[in-house]
Amino acid sequence: MKNIKVLWAIITVLSLILAGIGYQFVVGSVITAKDGRIAIVLTKGERNFVLGEMRGLLANMQQLVSAAADKDIDKTIRIAKKLIDDSKGAKQLSIIAKTPINFKRLTNNIHAQFKTLYSDAVEKRDPNHSLKQVSIIMQNCIVCHGAYQLTELNK
Ligand code: HEC
Repeated sequence: MKNIKVLWAIITVLSLILAGIGYQFVVGSVITAKDGRIAIVLTKGERNFVLGEMRGLLANMQQLVSAAADKDIDKTIRIAKKLIDDSKGAKQLSIIAKTPINFKRLTNNIHAQFKTLYSDAVEKRDPNHSLKQVSIIMQNCIVCHGAYQLTELNK
């Protein structure tokens, strides 16, 4: 009897831990920002890391627009490949754990679209098609920036 009680206690504790992890995965670490957006709470280092990645994204988007204007499909292919490689880089698990599920979804969405941009550019070699895809990719930037902010812990 005693053993069964201990077993149930262990099962209960483990279930609570799992529920906690699940909750964290869905909700992330967030507060409501002053302007009404959702602010993801990161350490200074994590926030700087994400902002650095963001500035890289903006630069790559500019390069993609310029490649399309020049009808330089090889450049489009190069940049798309770079975007895929960059998003494969060392995953910052501590940051991922703090982002809400919708943020993770937008991130996965944009990464999937980088892959399609690359494979379509290789197959179709059509700068107009690629430019349209870039414009659709940028809708993720707009949606995410409209909903989320990054804030530093202990600020
Ligand atoms: C999944 C969400 C998400 C996506 C997708 C996203 N961003 Fe961001 N980005 C953010 C957040 C959050 C911030 C911080 C905004 C704030 O704190 O006000 C940010 C900030 C930035 C900044 C400011 C960097 C700085 O140093 O202050 C730039 C530039 C930027 N993003 C570019 C882009 C571009 C270009 C894209 C699309 C190709 C993009 N982002 C897609 C979430 C996203």
